[in-house]
Amino acid sequence: MARRRQIFEGKAKILFEGPEPGTLVQYFKDDSAAFNVQKRGVITGKGVLNNRISEYLMTRLGEIGVPTHFVRRLNMREQLVREVEIIPLEVVVRNVAAGSFAKRFGMAEGTPLPRSIVEYYYKSEPLNHPMVSEEHVTAFGWAAPQDLDEIMSLSLRINDFLSGLFLGIGIRLMDLKVEFGRLWEDEHMRIVLADEISPDSSRLWDIKTSERLDRERFRDDLSKIADAYQEVARRLGILPESGPADIKGPETMQ
Ligand code: TMP
Repeated sequence: MARRRQIFEGKAKILFEGPEPGTLVQYFKDDSAAFNVQKRGVITGKGVLNNRISEYLMTRLGEIGVPTHFVRRLNMREQLVREVEIIPLEVVVRNVAAGSFAKRFGMAEGTPLPRSIVEYYYKSEPLNHPMVSEEHVTAFGWAAPQDLDEIMSLSLRINDFLSGLFLGIGIRLMDLKVEFGRLWEDEHMRIVLADEISPDSSRLWDIKTSERLDRERFRDDLSKIADAYQEVARRLGILPESGPADIKGPETMQ
């Protein structure tokens, strides 16, 4: 079999050339280096779970009319996506104070915010993803003002929809990070949701116990992170009882 051409390797994913022009294959790794955790290592099964969870959430978002790059899941670790021109921003939507936000404003983690707050971070590893304002985004030409309006309104829509979806399975969406890309169709450009949506890129707390169902619960024990991700997949109804090895297709149990 011919080797596929690798387009890009990130901390948690690899992008390969897709089977047709304008497509890519997104491969989910088990690596944990995507986190601000001291220990770097491999979380067995994480890639399989994130592939499945992201497929599920992107599909649900597509159903309500949010344009996404997702086409279909190919296998346990790979999904077919549309090739987009990535906008170099990490858009974080926060509903409850946590993480860097709680630190920055001296707030207790878990304090609800008066309304959802959107923040932009510049996607640059060497600069450690600095927070930027709309001024930086438009002045440096990363996105035009009208693109930014679209990004902001899509981000809030995604956040509202996913907040409700997670609430239905007893999970509070504290915050989430989304990325967008430009998709060119003939002469027209559309901004679409790209990358992934998973417990790697969101903060998920159990509503009743405030137990963390994301990576933060187990900073000291990476082996347990996959258990938390598995619990999220189980509540979403997309994990067969016997575990990630048995994931076959997008059948929900609702
Ligand atoms: P923060 O509170 O550490 O700034 O994180 C805010 C949200 O962004 C949280 O849901 C996790 C997500 N995130 C990423 O996806 N990648 C990152 O590198 C960081 C720092 C946060």
